[in-house]
Amino acid sequence: MKIRVLGAAAGGGFPQWNCACANCQLARAGSPRVTPRTEDSLAVSHDGSSWFIFNASPSIHAQIAAFPGLHPQNGRVSPIAGIVLTNGDLDHCLGLFSLRESTPLVVYATDAVFRSLVDRNAVARTLQRFEGQLTHRRLDLGVETVLTLRSGEPSGLSITARPAQGKLPIHLDGALAASPEDNVGLWVRESGNPHVAAYVTAAASLVGLRPLLDEASLLFFDGSFWRDDELIALGLGKSRARDMAHLPIGGENGSLAALSNLRTTRKVYMHINNTNPILDSESPERKAVVDAGWTVATDGMEVTL
Ligand code: MLT
Ligand code: MN
Ligand code: ZN
Repeated sequence: MKIRVLGAAAGGGFPQWNCACANCQLARAGSPRVTPRTEDSLAVSHDGSSWFIFNASPSIHAQIAAFPGLHPQNGRVSPIAGIVLTNGDLDHCLGLFSLRESTPLVVYATDAVFRSLVDRNAVARTLQRFEGQLTHRRLDLGVETVLTLRSGEPSGLSITARPAQGKLPIHLDGALAASPEDNVGLWVRESGNPHVAAYVTAAASLVGLRPLLDEASLLFFDGSFWRDDELIALGLGKSRARDMAHLPIGGENGSLAALSNLRTTRKVYMHINNTNPILDSESPERKAVVDAGWTVATDGMEVTL
């Protein structure tokens, strides 16, 4: 299984357009202590020629441009065989609407996430301009779903979506009833491969998840915030990390402590908010996560499992 991190930042990207926090200032100054990143997305492939994109970020055009594996080889046939969505947050979905140039798209998502895209959304019609432009393959919680090639053949990869404690997308908060389908993690299996990859980049807690993470040899986990009150302490926002469905890394009950005895051999923090001190290579927080065996994901990072 080939995996490429297309984007490792949280929804604001890094640097974030309207932010002058210490990290964003370092990034704009070109400091070697930090590396700019685009928004959370993975590309996953069995054969190295057809790819599945996990989450469609607002930077999807730049992410495709930066990775030759996603460049079309003839006519208008894209190597992207499908797009998997883990929630309806705009940093995971906006990129879909940038892929409107008439290539049929297959979207794997729970019913709740798919409906949040197409119901009452006039813009979604740009992906429904002809029969077959947008196909939804439903992800049922806990059920293994085969990812298929454009030909309809199995790709060699399958995914199981499992609920993670999350939230409705901000623009639907108060408009719909919450459901366990609103936010999922993905467990990825490859035929003939004993190793499993897990991708969980939004999780407010580990309740119900912790034992399932042990199934994975490779884990991409929510690295949004170091502290629960990170935005509040910096005077940049009013929300706590957990209220935004992101378990902080640091602290007694943070993911660094809670996942210290995982069986997983490769642990990667991803969906990293621009305020997070782990982005600064000289910070004690970076040292703490690296010393604990974690990798801090960067755009373009590749892993073969
Ligand atoms: C999140 O991960 O919490 C979201 O990206 C926030 C947002 O949609 O702005
Ligand atoms: Mn996000
Ligand atoms: Zn910032």
